[in-house]
Amino acid sequence: MSTSFIASELQRITDAGLYRRLRRVESDQDSTLTLDGREVINLSSNNYLGIANHPALAAAAKEAIDRYGCGSGASRLISGNMALHEELEAKLAEFKGTQAALVFNSGYQANTGILSTLVGDGDVIFSDALNHASIIDGCRLSRARTQVYRHCDLGQLEQQLKDAPSGARKLIVTETIFSMDGDEAPLVGVVDFAEKFNAMVMVDEAHATGVFGANGAGVVAKLGLGERVAIQMGTLGKALGGFGAYVAGSAALRDLLINRCRSFIFTTALPPAVMAMALAAIDLVKQEPERREALSANCGMLKNGLIQLGFELGQSESPILPLIVGDAGKCMKFSEQLLANGVFAQGIRPPTVPPGTSRVRITLMATHTAGQIERVLKVFEEVKAQA
Ligand SMILES: Cc1ncc(COP(=O)(O)O)c(C=O)c1O
Repeated sequence: MSTSFIASELQRITDAGLYRRLRRVESDQDSTLTLDGREVINLSSNNYLGIANHPALAAAAKEAIDRYGCGSGASRLISGNMALHEELEAKLAEFKGTQAALVFNSGYQANTGILSTLVGDGDVIFSDALNHASIIDGCRLSRARTQVYRHCDLGQLEQQLKDAPSGARKLIVTETIFSMDGDEAPLVGVVDFAEKFNAMVMVDEAHATGVFGANGAGVVAKLGLGERVAIQMGTLGKALGGFGAYVAGSAALRDLLINRCRSFIFTTALPPAVMAMALAAIDLVKQEPERREALSANCGMLKNGLIQLGFELGQSESPILPLIVGDAGKCMKFSEQLLANGVFAQGIRPPTVPPGTSRVRITLMATHTAGQIERVLKVFEEVKAQA
């Protein structure tokens, strides 16, 4: 079969102003990057605590390689289940205050696998309209009916729960901190309705783990909702600075996933170095609350400065600040102008966000300096004046 459709598909993407290309980073991941050969201030990373290049993580990874080698050799259910996987799972369960935890190779795999294991044909998923693509794909894969409720709209969620067939298994899924808007889900209300209508709750703490809660365990911990949220998924590749993901919950949940979850079963286990990094990262997150304090101070400084310059930042309550531009072309132009002035804040377009809501997504790190933030504000002011 001819592959000429590939060129025409690319042309269609380009014509719609949605063509994407990869940028190349030649430095470590820090508050500055060497990006496509130039040093820029990095406002485009989920490495919120600035530990992706921390010596403690690097030392743990090196030690694990020296002791256990590089690869895990097989899937977890064959010969790839190494002591470090179980050690990390025990530590994650303790960190999250749950009976058990299970590590996944990525957040994408966790969400698609968990959802398609827990619900199926004849069941109903209630999903926030702004949930991440991995949740959307998990809903599709599960074959359950998916009821999408307006973003954070508890009234519509309640109505949908009321209307659901009584015999169906019901699951509500929401991010706790939304990846593209930085706002927080109304989790107490979600949990109340779940209990009232006998639904399970699954949360995605990808952008909350390490950042929220007294010891960084996330929004569920911050709100003291632990026991009431059965399925707590999160990632290891954002604030925890490494790679991979987890789900925390009951021992029975872990057991069922080991037996049924295809994205857990049919893939090679994560290598020992990755487990060791995550173990070291959890210690750092717990032992260094000053990183969360620095992050919060940086967010306050940049947010206030941008508001004073007349920018609208939505309802963000996190290190994710969405500067909504609307039109995809204008958004990308704004982002390119920032970059030309040494500030890397990625423009985000559909399909990642809904049409008409293209935005410059700004993310902060604990390791940004006051001088860097002042420089960022100056650049935003200058670029706005040129627009
Ligand atoms: C909310 C959310 N869930 C899941 C994921 C997927 O996690 P991972 O990058 O580990 O695949 C991401 C981003 O990557 C995310 O933003």
